[in-house]
Amino acid sequence: MFILERLIRPHLLALTPYSSARDEYSGKEGVFLDANENPLGSSTDENFNRYPDPYQWAVKEKLAPIKGVRTSQMLLGNGSDEPIDLLVRAFAEPKEDHILILPPTYGMYEVSANIQNVSVKKVALTPDFQIDVEAVLAAVDEHTKIIWLCSPNNPSGNLLRREDMLRIIEGTSCMVVVDEAYIDFAADATMLPLLDQYPNLVVLQTFSKAWGLAGLRVGMCFASEAIIALLNKIKSPYNISSITQRLLLEALDHVGKKDEMVQVIAVNRERLRQRLEDLPNVEHVFPTDSNQLLVRFQDSAAVFSYLLEHKIIVRDRSKVKHCDNCLRISVGTQQEDDVLLDSLHQFARMLVNS
Ligand SMILES: Cc1ncc(COP(=O)(O)O)c(C=O)c1O
Repeated sequence: MFILERLIRPHLLALTPYSSARDEYSGKEGVFLDANENPLGSSTDENFNRYPDPYQWAVKEKLAPIKGVRTSQMLLGNGSDEPIDLLVRAFAEPKEDHILILPPTYGMYEVSANIQNVSVKKVALTPDFQIDVEAVLAAVDEHTKIIWLCSPNNPSGNLLRREDMLRIIEGTSCMVVVDEAYIDFAADATMLPLLDQYPNLVVLQTFSKAWGLAGLRVGMCFASEAIIALLNKIKSPYNISSITQRLLLEALDHVGKKDEMVQVIAVNRERLRQRLEDLPNVEHVFPTDSNQLLVRFQDSAAVFSYLLEHKIIVRDRSKVKHCDNCLRISVGTQQEDDVLLDSLHQFARMLVNS
């Protein structure tokens, strides 16, 4: 049975969080002499002399109806890498507990655990990049604090089967985090509507991919009110800058632009997939529900070096589980994809002539 208080690291239950000046008075009008700010303005043309809203309420109020959740079920972080780190710090006791990951998967789950001296158990995905549910359930014990599911998965690009994820969420009493960084590229697949049903479910999303705001660094964490309250206690007080909050409000007025970009990327993805499949030295293009294509080549190391020599940078995933000879390719503009394809054709011709 899931009991949140049993999962939280004990010392955090009693933690008194930092109380910022903006926690004590959140009104907009007044003479503000409480936060040791500079009253004169800024050294830039635009003024940033006041601390930002520590909880980004204006952004959350715009985001809540778009995501179909309550503002109290959201935490915004400096990229989704911030909530990944916060979740480990909230639940896993260094040297005692562990997290469970399903390789091949996004690298920061393991790195965040390593930083906190929390060990990492691994249960590989199946060769078609789905969950080995029985093996995951068998690996869980009382020290398993977080299971990370990445759907669509990085680097394979595919969605994990919903019924498998539900078996993990229902079959364990630890936190199950579903990282949906690429969910906008996969229609109607989000687990967000299940948030009220499963108190151990956490969903991560990001503004870095479909929204095109990787440089702004904003990730979203959705969970029960109790979990969000806990994460708010341990996050740094002003983790999202005022300029970022302002630009997010602007982005949220242009959901249509994001949707249009998703459509264009879907078209480009299919075009790139077909053209990659036509190459003689491509063995397999894995099915994808995201903006990345995992491609198995005959000799990925040679392809990777050739592309690098031509200043075309893709991600070498050949050393990770089930990904021998695989390169991960982000879908670009059609022009960028054509530069890649031209270079791959040249390489294939060289192979034939050698
Ligand atoms: C699955 C997954 N989760 C999270 C992230 C991190 O995203 P952010 O830019 O929000 O930190 C990435 C980045 O590539 C990712 O692939």
